[in-house]
Amino acid sequence: MLTPLSFSLLRQLSDGSFHSGEDLAASVGLTRARVSQLLKQAETAGLALERVRGRGYRLLATPDFLEAESLRDALRRINVEVLPGDAKAPLLPAANDDDLALPGNAIPLIPMRPPISVEVVDQVDSTSSELLRRASRRDIHGALLAAEWQTAGRGRRGRIWTAVAGGSLTFSLGWRYEHGAGYLAGLSLAVGVAVIRALEAENLAGVELKWPNDLIYRHLKVGGILVEVNGDSLGPSTVVVGVGLNVRLPSNMKRDIAQPVSDLTAVAGRGAAPIDRNRLLARLVKELAQTMGTYGEHGFAPFAAEWQRRHAYQGKVVRLLLPDGASVKGTVAGVDSTGALVLADGPRRARFLAGEISLRRA
Ligand code: BTN
Repeated sequence: MLTPLSFSLLRQLSDGSFHSGEDLAASVGLTRARVSQLLKQAETAGLALERVRGRGYRLLATPDFLEAESLRDALRRINVEVLPGDAKAPLLPAANDDDLALPGNAIPLIPMRPPISVEVVDQVDSTSSELLRRASRRDIHGALLAAEWQTAGRGRRGRIWTAVAGGSLTFSLGWRYEHGAGYLAGLSLAVGVAVIRALEAENLAGVELKWPNDLIYRHLKVGGILVEVNGDSLGPSTVVVGVGLNVRLPSNMKRDIAQPVSDLTAVAGRGAAPIDRNRLLARLVKELAQTMGTYGEHGFAPFAAEWQRRHAYQGKVVRLLLPDGASVKGTVAGVDSTGALVLADGPRRARFLAGEISLRRA
C-alpha cells in the first residue's frame, strides 16, 4: 500500500540520485525507521530501490510521474481543447433543482466534443469507480482521471487489475451520450481501435486486439479496457471508459500476474528511448475523445473494418470458453455492428456477446 507520504518520498527519489535516510526523514517529518518502512512498501508496489550504507536510497528505474499541468500542455500541443486546472465540473441538473433548471424547460444538449478536464491523483481505489461515484451528482462528460496507483483496480468480469506505480497507465474518461446501452454495445471495441491508433502515433506499433478488447503484443497482454454504461435503456447514458496499460513492468511483477503479460517497453524494442507517460497519455486521450465523438454520431460502423484488421485472431480457428464451462470451436468471421463476435462453423454462423466469453487459440 502506498500512502501520500510514500509518494512525497518517491518524487524526491525520482531524480535518480542517492538521498540519505536522514534527509528523507527530515523532509517528510518522520523517523528514519518509518521512511525505511514506507520505502519497503514502495518496493512491493513494483518500484526497485537500491540501499547503500552511508549514501542512502536511490530508485533504480526513475519513474516519470504523471503531472496534470504537463498533461494539459501536451494535450494543447496536439490541439485538444482542455479546461483550465481550476475549472470545477458542473453539477448535473436534477429534476427538482429549481436553481439549476433551464429556462423554458429546455433539455440541455450533450456536446459531441466536450473540452477535457484533466485530474491526476497519486492514489485512488479505482479511477473508474471514482468517476462512477461522481457521476451521480457531477457532469463527468469529458472528465479524465488518471492515478499513479490504484488500491482496488478492476478488470473485466470481476477480475482485479494489477499495475505498478510509475510503470503503468491507469486512467478513466467519463462521457455522456443521448443514446441508450443498445447503441453503445460496440463502444468498448471502438475504444480498442482508438488505443492502438494512439500507440502507433507514438511509435509503438505491433499491438493487436483480442476480442472483445484486450490489447496484446505477440499474444501477451499489454493492456485492457473496461467500459461501464449507466442510464435508461433508451438513453441518455453515462459512460466510464477505463484503460490500463503496462508501460514498464518489473519481471517479478510479470511473473506474479495470473495471465501471461508483456509491456509497452517490449513493444518499443531494445534501444528505444524510454516511454514518456505524460505524452503517451495525452495521445491516448486525444484518440479516445475523437473516437467517443465519432461513435456518438455514427456508432460502431466506422470502426468495424479497422477492428477486424487489427484483430489478432481474424480468420483463425479459435475455441471460445463460455461462462457455463462449455466451449465452442469455430473460425473467426469478424464482429457485427454491436461488437458481437461472429464464429463460422461451415455454413453456420453464431454470434457471441462481449463480456461472456474467453478466447483461446485452438
Ligand atoms: C481488463 O480486464 O482487461 C480491463 C482492465 C481495465 C483496467 C483499467 S485501469 C483504469 C480503470 N480503473 C479500473 O479500476 N479499471 C480500469
